Formats: sequence, structure tokens, C-alpha cells
Amino acid sequence: MAILEATDEAVAAAAAALRGGALVAFPTETVYGLGADATNARAVAAIFAAKGRPHFNPLIVHVPDIEAAARLGRLTDAASQLGARFWPGPLTLVMAKQPDCRVADLATAGLDTVALRVPAHPLAQALLRAADTPVTAPSANRSGHVSPTTAAHVEADLGAAVAIILDGGTAPIGLESTVVDVTRDEPVVLRLGGLARECIAHALGRPIAFASGEPDRPSSPGMLARHYAPKARLRLVAREMREGEALLAFGPAVPRHGGLAINLSPSGDLVEAAANLFSALRELDAAGAVAVAVMAIPCTGLGEAINDRLQRAAKVE
Ligand code: TXA
Ligand code: MG
Repeated sequence: MAILEATDEAVAAAAAALRGGALVAFPTETVYGLGADATNARAVAAIFAAKGRPHFNPLIVHVPDIEAAARLGRLTDAASQLGARFWPGPLTLVMAKQPDCRVADLATAGLDTVALRVPAHPLAQALLRAADTPVTAPSANRSGHVSPTTAAHVEADLGAAVAIILDGGTAPIGLESTVVDVTRDEPVVLRLGGLARECIAHALGRPIAFASGEPDRPSSPGMLARHYAPKARLRLVAREMREGEALLAFGPAVPRHGGLAINLSPSGDLVEAAANLFSALRELDAAGAVAVAVMAIPCTGLGEAINDRLQRAAKVE
């Protein structure tokens, strides 16, 4: 791990590291982000491993300008209006994914929407332009810790997991970006943050409510983003196959099966399995699987988040 001062060489090295699949921490005007190439599922999985998150939340994807955002998400009128007014800046807009959106399913937790942000910090801007790929980045702290506003905070929390920390001094806002869902006619606030709700309302020319439907109360963090819900019925910790089941396998020793089988990681690598999880669930649905036998997955490292997700997916509503 290296902490690098803000020079052109440092930005070039950080961009190369990102493109090579490594994690890079970088300053934004809100907080420091733990960045990965958003199109590389393995790199995105490494973010969750580094943060020690017990579950997979959809992450924010950073791009250098509104044009780059429009290539990944569909700009509604409200999105164009708010993007034009507040980007670059501490605002994240949740949009419907473009059909050819290259963002990895793990970064969006398998959703059909993507959260996009154009940060204003000059070092973040330089990195995004040099990397020439969308960069997904949650705050660069371990799960449960406070968000970092200096390179030293990042080093203390995540030093071992990142290739490079770009040092841009203290993040000026110190509070995460405000997240607004602009997928529908009426935009709603999903998370309060560095851009005040009044400013957004003023730009829209009308009040903006919280997603909870209650005008003055944000929904609980767990309600902020839904996850992809598979249609197929999942049977967990399956050792053998039953009639008509598809198989979601893990590791080298796979039960005998006749039909559709997807192996999350033939070598038994939990980072690889996490990277493949949401795409695999979608693939099983797309293939029309009704019932799926899911092999046991160890509950260590990213296995905890994988099992959390599978348990939710297995619950019959
Ligand atoms: O200031 C920030 O926003 C920092 C800096 C590094 O940019 N980033 C950050 O990222 O806080 P992250 O990934 O931790 O923020 C995720 C937030 C959560 O509230 C999540 O629920 C919401 O964005 N979110 C992400 N994708 C979403 C989606 N597709 N639909 C709804 N909410 C989404
Ligand atoms: Mg955070």
C-alpha cells in the first residue's frame, strides 16, 4: 500500500491500479471513497471483502460528467435537471440502467437501477478521467466505522486492502452525498447528505419527499434500496438434487445433476463467488428455473454476506 501525494504520476498509477482490478482509495468533496472498476465484478467483490460488510448493498458508481452518467443510466427530465444544476457535486442520482450498462451486477445488488455520482473534487475528477472506466466507491471505512475524511483515516481502517491511497487532504464536506431516486416522475430522497433537501426542492421548483412516503422522515437504512428478488425457489445447504431442481453450486465437489447448473466458484473462492452471485440468480431466472438447490457456502469472509443474501432470497414472501 502506498499513500501518494496528488501528482500526475500518482493519478496515473492509481488509474492503472484500478484498471488492473485493484482497490484505490481517493478523496471526494464528501468523504474518501474505496474505489474499484465498476465493470469488474471481482474488483467490486473485493470492496465488500475489504469493508467486512455482512451483506451486499448496492454501491454508488462515480463518473466524470453527466454524459458518462447518461451512458450507464437513463436520464429522466428530473435527472437532467438535477444533474445539470448540481453536478459535479455531493448528489447521487438513482436511474434505470441503460440496456447496455456495463456496471457489474454486484455493484447494483442485481437491481435494474444504478446510483450515479459526478464528484467535484479535482483529484476524483482526474482519477475518473485517467481510469476511463466507471468507478464504484462506498466510503473507505470498515463496516460500522465512521466515514473517513483524511488519507490517514483510510490507512488506519483499510491500509492492507488498498493498492494506493490518493492523498487530497481533508474532504471538505465530510458527509456522504445526498441520494435521490429520479427513476419516476416524482423524485424522492433516499439518503440525506451533503446537499440539502431545500436546495433540491428549489431546483425542482416543488417540494421533494423522502422515499418512505412520509414527507419529513427518511426510511430506515435497510429500506433504502431493495435487492434483486429471484423468482426461483431456493433450497439452501442442499447435498443432493431433487426432481426438477436447477443447481447453484460452490466448490469442486458438485452433486450429480442433470439440468441447469451454475457454479459460483469451482475453486471454492468466496470473492469469486460473491462476484458471480447476482448474475447467477438472474441467469437462473432467465432460464426459467422454478426450484434451485443451493450448495452450502462457508460462512467466513464474504461467505457471510453471500449467505445473508441467499437466506433472504430463499424466504417465501
Ligand atoms: O459521498 C458519497 O456518496 C460516498 C463517496 C465516496 O462518493 N459514497 C458512498 O457510497 O457513500 P455508498 O456506495 O456507500 O452509498 C450507497 C448509498 C446507499 O444509501 C444505497 O442504499 C444507495 O446509495 N444506493 C446505491 N445504489 C442504489 C440503487 N440502485 N437504488 C437505490 N439506492 C441505491
Ligand atoms: Mg459508508
